[in-house]
Amino acid sequence: MRDDIEETLISEQAIQARVAELGAAITRDYAGKDLVLLGILRGSLIFLADLARQVALPLEIDTIVAASYGDETHSSGVVKIVKDIEASIEGRHVVIVEDIIDTGLTLRNLLELLRTRSPASLRVCTLLVKDRVFPEQGERIEAAYVGFHVPDRFVVGYGLDYAQRYRNLPFIGVLKPEVYTTTGAAPTP
Ligand code: IMP
Ligand code: MG
Repeated sequence: MRDDIEETLISEQAIQARVAELGAAITRDYAGKDLVLLGILRGSLIFLADLARQVALPLEIDTIVAASYGDETHSSGVVKIVKDIEASIEGRHVVIVEDIIDTGLTLRNLLELLRTRSPASLRVCTLLVKDRVFPEQGERIEAAYVGFHVPDRFVVGYGLDYAQRYRNLPFIGVLKPEVYTTTGAAPTP
């Protein structure tokens, strides 16, 4: 699996240090508040598990399954709720936990949906923001908490997949081009 990686962009140590900082910031900001960490599956699974353990507050963890990507590496622009949240978020403070903001379409759709359920507050914590070459083709989403910015390349690891593989790599990396050519799907960008 590691042989498929061309370059490591963010090491395991750097991720863990940053997740601890994000957890400390959330701990400061939500002290005394009724907090719900809402992970967007499957990409945020690993990040959510690590982040939650760095927040030293009582909180509820819930998840929502949203699909905007098939096995390809480009956004379809269509977001489907495959599994909704179980918690009621009315009057509660919600932090959405996301793996990466690329076009922002997934989050825009989810934010619209969740706002109709009257949370006391709704903010985004994303591990990665992709610095897009063509930002005008996406939605500007303001994330209150951002782990790292990454270049406009397709990244895998720490929850992020290519064709459902590589989520269990403990670091963030870029795949070798031949991995895409042997599996058929062309990476975009
Ligand atoms: P967006 O709607 O374009 O912002 O993309 C949202 C979802 O696409 C993310 O939550 C990821 O699951 C997936 N995604 C976007 N860019 C990448 C990437 O570089 N690697 C792996 N998954 C990605
Ligand atoms: Mg995702």
